[in-house]
Amino acid sequence: MPSSPESPANAAISESAVDAAVEAALAAVAAASDTAALKAAKSAHAGESSPLASLNATLRDVPADQKAALGKLVGQARGRVAQAVAAREAELAEAEEHARLAAEAIDVTGIPPLRTAGARHPLTTLMEDMSDIFIAMGWEVDEGPELENDWFNFDALNFAPDHPARAMQDTFFIEPVDRHLILRTHTSPVQSRSMLSRGVPLYIVAPGRVYRTDELDATHTPVFHQMEGIAIDKGLTMAHLRGALEHLARALFGEGARIRLRPSYFPVTEPSAELDVWHPTFRDGPRWIEWGGCGMVNPNVLRSAGIDPEVYQGFAFGMGIERTLMFRNGVSDMRDMVEGDVRFSQQFGLVV
Ligand code: PHE
Repeated sequence: MPSSPESPANAAISESAVDAAVEAALAAVAAASDTAALKAAKSAHAGESSPLASLNATLRDVPADQKAALGKLVGQARGRVAQAVAAREAELAEAEEHARLAAEAIDVTGIPPLRTAGARHPLTTLMEDMSDIFIAMGWEVDEGPELENDWFNFDALNFAPDHPARAMQDTFFIEPVDRHLILRTHTSPVQSRSMLSRGVPLYIVAPGRVYRTDELDATHTPVFHQMEGIAIDKGLTMAHLRGALEHLARALFGEGARIRLRPSYFPVTEPSAELDVWHPTFRDGPRWIEWGGCGMVNPNVLRSAGIDPEVYQGFAFGMGIERTLMFRNGVSDMRDMVEGDVRFSQQFGLVV
């Protein structure tokens, strides 16, 4: 390339031009606040199209006698900029590493945030505990639908169509009425379902939800739970009924518990009895408490499931779970059981 003193490149290569390029480069490097900005500054001030590179390119055009001096000047300038870039690179890398570590820091001595666990509902646990007592004696657990056919809820259980006993229970009927669907008023329909599906001998308990048209108050709720028990075998008597219920009472209320049967009437059983339990540790002192109904399975009920009452006999019982929880655990208001406030359930322990 021809060179002349007037060429811009030649004119540009001077100590002040080099100093200006270095100043600008150092300022840009110092101002770079992260590695991306530094990379941009590096390419602008030390890259191939940077002012220093252009100055360097003009070296070949300078007269031979100035080449060494100007070469040294530009070389040192490029060296200073390269060093400044390297130093800033190291600084930024360290700062970024620190920031990353600080962001990832975990205080291993810190207290973890408390997560509130839920609790199983005490009615559920009580039904399971009661079922377990029977499972331990070789019984099985069965269940039936809550939306029940009125034949299972009443007819199969010896409630005749016009039997006044149907009025004993306040039933939720489902429309259209000719479909004969109701919300089951007790767990007794599971008796018939189990007899039909499992045959004899039969030993089952059936805990579950039942419905009656009661207003919600401290001792009533329209949706509640019962546990049904039914045993059918050859030669079962009232003594077996007593034995099973006394065992249940002791397991739930302690060794001091006893049961008492008072003559009563239920269509499903004959003879029938009211079941009372002697609660030895009741909070107001030991006392008898009405607990449920029971009796020997009515021969008509056996017949409706195709079982010959001359060969097989059975006993059955049923009790309310809410009531049991109330006097067993000193719950005075049934509404606490239906409101769904986890603090109520948590008092019974965090069983999961
Ligand atoms: N099903 C009856 C009720 O809900 C209770 C009961 C069950 C009575 C089993 C006798 C035998 O009132």
